[in-house]
Amino acid sequence: MTAPIINGKQVSEEIRSQIRIEVEELKGKGVQPGLAVVLVGEDPASQVYVRNKEKACVDLGFYSEVHRLPASTTQEELLVLIDKLNGQASIHGILVQLPLPSHIHEKSVIDAISVEKDVDGFHPVNVGNLVIGDDSLLPCTPAGVIELIKRAGIEISGKHAVVIGRSNIVGKPVSLLLQRENATVTMCHSRTANMKELTKQADIVVVAIGRANFVDASYIKPGAVVIDVGMNRLENGKLAGDVDFASVQEVSGPITPVPGGVGPMTITMLMKNTLIAAKRLN
Ligand code: GUN
Repeated sequence: MTAPIINGKQVSEEIRSQIRIEVEELKGKGVQPGLAVVLVGEDPASQVYVRNKEKACVDLGFYSEVHRLPASTTQEELLVLIDKLNGQASIHGILVQLPLPSHIHEKSVIDAISVEKDVDGFHPVNVGNLVIGDDSLLPCTPAGVIELIKRAGIEISGKHAVVIGRSNIVGKPVSLLLQRENATVTMCHSRTANMKELTKQADIVVVAIGRANFVDASYIKPGAVVIDVGMNRLENGKLAGDVDFASVQEVSGPITPVPGGVGPMTITMLMKNTLIAAKRLN
């Protein structure tokens, strides 16, 4: 019997329906949630991501501003724009699309975004509050992973979760959020010696290692939940996850596909963060 598929598109749409209701309520109080997206340069993948964020704003009734700046923009010019957006009342969320051109120091830019408007959850204060367990704006993809597991009706508390990948954007925050949900968490990464021994003990496996089809059925305990955060562009132009879906689905429990799993959740969680920021700022 093959495993049930966790449908990220459907879950994302459920959350969007709730966001629409809350946006209408907020508009009734004279507040429209506003998101500013800043794109420096012409990276093709970033252009697609930014366009999708713009579409999500239209779809959910948010005010949106997209600042498309040339690759030659200086760090100083970018910091001036961020300062302006930090002080702009119609903007509740600021997202600077990464990666930035190499002459711009990424950390200086992230640090300049107001903590209250940091809807990526990348500012060190938000990261620190996540570690402590205090209120913070949560990074979008990790928050989307947890939401997807919960809304699929899967219990996290008491389970053994193995996270493959230790990036600042996904692996590290996802492990913290799983601990917050009372899972016992093991971290694996590219240098882990006995990875299969560890993953085969997991009730939940979250894969964010950035290598196409890295995890096959031999890594998975029968019935385990498998969440694939991978987005790898193959030479033939197709999108592949970090999980060999066809092989793993033969042994796993509920599993997310790529595309249509974690991907649709990320922008939806960005919109949720912007809504939260708008409420907190008003
Ligand atoms: N580039 C790729 N993913 C992301 C993301 O989640 N946030 C930002 N700001 N840039 C990205």
